[in-house]
Amino acid sequence: MSTLKLTNVDKTYGGTVNVLRDINLDIETGELIVFVGPSGCGKSTLLRMIAGLEKITGGELQIDGAVVNDVPPAQRGIAMVFQSYALYPHMTVRENMQFALKLAKKTPAEIDAAVASAAEKLQLTDYLDRLPKALSGGQRQRVAIGRSIVRDPKVYLFDEPLSNLDAALRVATRIEIAQLKEAMPDSTMIYVTHDQVEAMTLASRIVVLANKGIAQVGTPLELYESPKNEFVAQFIGSPAMNLLPGTIVETGALTKVDLGHGLEVTSTVPTTDADMGMTVNVGIRPEDLVETDGTAAFEGKVKIIEALGEVTLMYFDGAGADFICKLNGIHAGRRGETLRLTASPDKVHVFANGESLLYR
Ligand SMILES: Nc1ncnc2c1ncn2[C@@H]1O[C@H](COP(=O)(O)OP(=O)(O)O)[C@@H](O)[C@H]1O
Ligand SMILES: [Mg+2]
Repeated sequence: MSTLKLTNVDKTYGGTVNVLRDINLDIETGELIVFVGPSGCGKSTLLRMIAGLEKITGGELQIDGAVVNDVPPAQRGIAMVFQSYALYPHMTVRENMQFALKLAKKTPAEIDAAVASAAEKLQLTDYLDRLPKALSGGQRQRVAIGRSIVRDPKVYLFDEPLSNLDAALRVATRIEIAQLKEAMPDSTMIYVTHDQVEAMTLASRIVVLANKGIAQVGTPLELYESPKNEFVAQFIGSPAMNLLPGTIVETGALTKVDLGHGLEVTSTVPTTDADMGMTVNVGIRPEDLVETDGTAAFEGKVKIIEALGEVTLMYFDGAGADFICKLNGIHAGRRGETLRLTASPDKVHVFANGESLLYR
C-alpha cells in the first residue's frame, strides 16, 4: 500500500487562479521525494495541500488508502517543517521538543523517551538545556525538525528548510538530513527545494513541477540521463543542456541529425522511416562534449572561459548562441581558439516539439 496517493489533484486559488492541474503521484512508505521546479510553480501549494493547510480544489488525496481531503491537518499524521523555524525563544531545546507532546497529554515517561530519541538522531543530546539564542542556525533548524520527530508522524514535509542558511551550513545540514533519513527508514519525507544539488543528493525520486503539472518523476539519475522533455533536460544539470536545432537524415537503431553548416551528430535514440526529415532539437550536456578531428556536432570560437580548477567552462560564439562546454581540468589559455566538438551517441538526446523521442 502506498503511503500517499494523489489522484487528479487540482488547485485553484480564489475560484479563478489555477496553479496546479491534474497531479497524479504515488509515494511509497520510506521514500524521500523531492519537489523541484521554478519559483512560483506550485511546490509549496502542493505541499500545503498534502499537509491540509490548503484546500484541495479538485481530485483526491489518500493517506494509507483513506481519502483525507477533508481531514484536518492535526489528524493526518503529518509534520511540516518550514523554512522559517519559529522556536519558542524562552524555552530550552528540551522544552521546545516536549511542547507538542505535553499538549497531547503524553505521560512524562513517554515524553522523555521521545525527546531523548529525537535528540540522539539529531545530535542535539548535549544541547537539550540551552535556549535557542545559544544555538547556531543549523542547530536551531535541527530543533525545529526535532519538534516534529517527537510526534512520530507518518510523513514529514519540508519546505525549503535550508534556504535561510549560508552555503557551508547548507551543505552540512543537507548531509544531516540524509543521515536523519537513514536513521528513520520507515518515515516518508517530501522535501521542497529549488536547489538541484539538494534534489539530486537527497531524493529517492524527484518530481519536477512545471507549467501547472508534473514534467517528470524519476530517480535523480533517470532525470539526468533520460529527461522526458526539454524542460527537465535543461532544469536538471548545470550548466544546462545545450540544444541544437537540426533535421533527422538517417533513421534506425542509430539516428543521424544534420545540424547545418556541415555539422552532424549520431544518437542511440531509435527512430523509424516515418521520422525521416523531422525537425528536432538535439540535446548535449556541456560535460558530454569532447573534441574531435572527425565529424563535429559543433564548431565555434571560445568566447569566454571560466576556469574553476576541477573543470573549465567554455562559452562559444556560434550559430546557436548559448553553447557551453565543460572540460575536466584546466584549459585557461584557450580563449579565441576554434574547437570542433562532438559527443558519444549514447549521450545525444533528441527532442521533437519539446518531448524526448525516447519516450514515444
Ligand atoms: N493564497 C494565494 N492566493 C492566490 N495565489 C496564490 C496564493 N498562494 C500562492 N499563490 C500563487 O500560486 C502559485 C504557486 O505558488 P507557490 O506554491 O508558493 O510556488 P513555489 O513554492 O513553487 O514557489 C504562484 O503563482 C503564487 O503566486
Ligand atoms: Mg515555495
